[in-house]
Amino acid sequence: MLTLALPTGRSFGECVKILECSGLPVSGLKDAGRSLVIEEGAFRYILSKPSDVPAMVYYGAADLALAGNDVIEEAGIALAELLDTGLGRCRMAVAGPSEIAEKFRGGAQRLMGLKVATKYARLAERTFAGWGVQIKLLKLNGSVELAPALGLADCIFDVVQTGKTLEANGLSVIKETLPVSLRLVAGVSSIQLRWNSIFGVVGAVNSAVEAKK
Ligand code: PRP
Ligand code: MG
Repeated sequence: MLTLALPTGRSFGECVKILECSGLPVSGLKDAGRSLVIEEGAFRYILSKPSDVPAMVYYGAADLALAGNDVIEEAGIALAELLDTGLGRCRMAVAGPSEIAEKFRGGAQRLMGLKVATKYARLAERTFAGWGVQIKLLKLNGSVELAPALGLADCIFDVVQTGKTLEANGLSVIKETLPVSLRLVAGVSSIQLRWNSIFGVVGAVNSAVEAKK
């Protein structure tokens, strides 16, 4: 049996669709209710909070997973990326109100000590450090768009998909930093132990992704 971890939330529907197109059994996934582990045929699916999916693979609870490269990078753990599905496309970006956008145009020196709210603490530190900017980090667990309006932060560092959440909260993209999409990943020991089954799934998902193009 092969165990596959899937992210709950907005990517879940897209994950189920691509697995279905790949010929994997998904009827239980479509009717998951509140179940977090679903067994179907030769597969066990684990439904995990997106940010926890990389750990599911890393610690061997799952052989394979679909996870965004945003959460993989943030987790900072080594996984084997087998396929970029190109699904769930969005991007990491710094966003804020117009006066902060203006500050960015003034260069790194003007950004020292900038207060940045984010769910992605590690990635934010790394991104700003790459620009030579030391920031004050406010780690939130969601709805980070609230922070500038409430005076808790100058800007945010988050994923942007349609841009609607930013717009609805008076913010706009200042700088895009990383393209994000769902990746099919596996743990190193699973690759060694179950390569044949894993290889079969990678091939099937790859064909489904190609057929969609
Ligand atoms: C994500 C992300 C942005 C929004 C981007 O939040 O953190 O807020 O979606 O999508 P958009 O550009 O299409 O508006 P999510 O709704 O997943 O909730 P959370 O931040 O509270 O975890
Ligand atoms: Mg959000």
